[in-house]
Amino acid sequence: MTDTIDTSTSSAPSAPSAPAAPARDGFTDRNGASHPFGDRDAETQVRSDDRSHVFHSWSAQAQIDPLPIAAGAGSTFWDYRGNAYLDFSSQLVNLNLGHQHPDLVRAIQEQAGRLATIQPSMANDVRGELARRIARVAPGTLNRVFFTNGGADANEYAVRMARRVTGRRKVLSMYRSYHGGTSTAISLTGDPRRWANEPSDGSVAHFFGPYLYRSAFHSTTPQEETQRALEHLENVIVLEGAATVAAIIIETVVGTNGVLVPPPGYLAGVRELCDRYGIVYIADEVMVGFGRIGEWFAVDAFDVVPDLITFAKGVNSGYVPLGGVVISDRIADFFDDVPFQGGLTYSGHPLACAAGVATFEVFERDGILERVRDLGSRVIEPEITSWLDTHPSLGEVRGRGLFWALELVRDRETREPFVPFNATGADAAPMGAVAAACKAAGVWPFTHFNRMHIAPPLVIEEAELRRGLAAIDDALTVADGYVR
Ligand SMILES: Cc1ncc(COP(=O)(O)O)c(C=O)c1O
Repeated sequence: MTDTIDTSTSSAPSAPSAPAAPARDGFTDRNGASHPFGDRDAETQVRSDDRSHVFHSWSAQAQIDPLPIAAGAGSTFWDYRGNAYLDFSSQLVNLNLGHQHPDLVRAIQEQAGRLATIQPSMANDVRGELARRIARVAPGTLNRVFFTNGGADANEYAVRMARRVTGRRKVLSMYRSYHGGTSTAISLTGDPRRWANEPSDGSVAHFFGPYLYRSAFHSTTPQEETQRALEHLENVIVLEGAATVAAIIIETVVGTNGVLVPPPGYLAGVRELCDRYGIVYIADEVMVGFGRIGEWFAVDAFDVVPDLITFAKGVNSGYVPLGGVVISDRIADFFDDVPFQGGLTYSGHPLACAAGVATFEVFERDGILERVRDLGSRVIEPEITSWLDTHPSLGEVRGRGLFWALELVRDRETREPFVPFNATGADAAPMGAVAAACKAAGVWPFTHFNRMHIAPPLVIEEAELRRGLAAIDDALTVADGYVR
């Protein structure tokens, strides 16, 4: 357990443009008027409008009670009663530069004052600058960018490009994956969110990716897992008909479904299989692109160059919706004389792109990638690894940069998950109790099935990070109480 916070020895570069969240005693309404926390009228109005008129994602509408949020700054947000939460989930793992980053807010305000919108068939300065900056940090010959409104449509369009270029239709994707909520993207998804949307696109087939802790291949080492997972993938390609497979789409580090870091050689093997069978390799970096694991694009950590990379979330922290596909020259050139059949009214929206350009400036000025790697390896990894000695409910910890999973179990020997796969209601209650303990201690966690993920904003101060980890350490004693 971390019971002292010593920042004096910190060598982490600070993030000067994202000030620590100020002590707050109130919030500002949309007319600029200030209110003290505890203003029940304001909270009641927000809750009432929400419950009466807002239809929420992925939910039985009568069974939810969304928390009204009054304010956010840096790595913290506040409810209307003044409860502060350290955002260890970066909202939906999109808020890489934290709440209300002054540079991003200013960029959006300035762009709104200059040119708030312009349609995509015209050229625009911030759209072009953002595409140029993305191309500069993308690997290989990925030099052109098709902008979308978010991650799901980025995957839709990447698949559409792959199908058009190869003249094939089938796409292979992993079990334990999430690729988005729209029709192709949900078909690709390898988690229970797909089930209610079936029959989905029949030209998608799923395969098992590497996951050594629960190996589908009975592997005992990372090397075995790589070799067997690649053999399995090749079998799937052959049995599905290699000549029918347009693309393989893989989250470079699987996100919501477990922070599954690929073992050495796996992604290089995927690249090799794609080359051998003429298949387009799509890297879904919607969650891990733009710094989450300390790289611009996560593929850089594994020395592979895909044909297409999809991104969203961290490109501008979601201040204005934005996603896209980074396209290799080979695929982009195909469309030199063949029209690309796809588009969006808001493709490359100037407000979103202005926030994207500002994101690049902040990353470069404040050494964001370096601080992510430093905080991950110096602070998080040793701390949570030490919990394996003190918390019997912890089966495995894994991750990289500012992206980690704590995999909870009922029994370390059998690896029985802490709650069943896709648990709901009473079955999920133990995980709810652990999450509630975190929230009571002022940390907003990300939980999924039997895992808690650690994914704070990349600008989190070291002291905040240590405070949040200490709260999770304490909360895990709740989980230990369920161990058999
Ligand atoms: C890996 C991955 N791909 C795609 C998506 C879908 O992105 P969006 O919700 O912006 O459509 C997500 C969202 O969480 C994601 O994590």
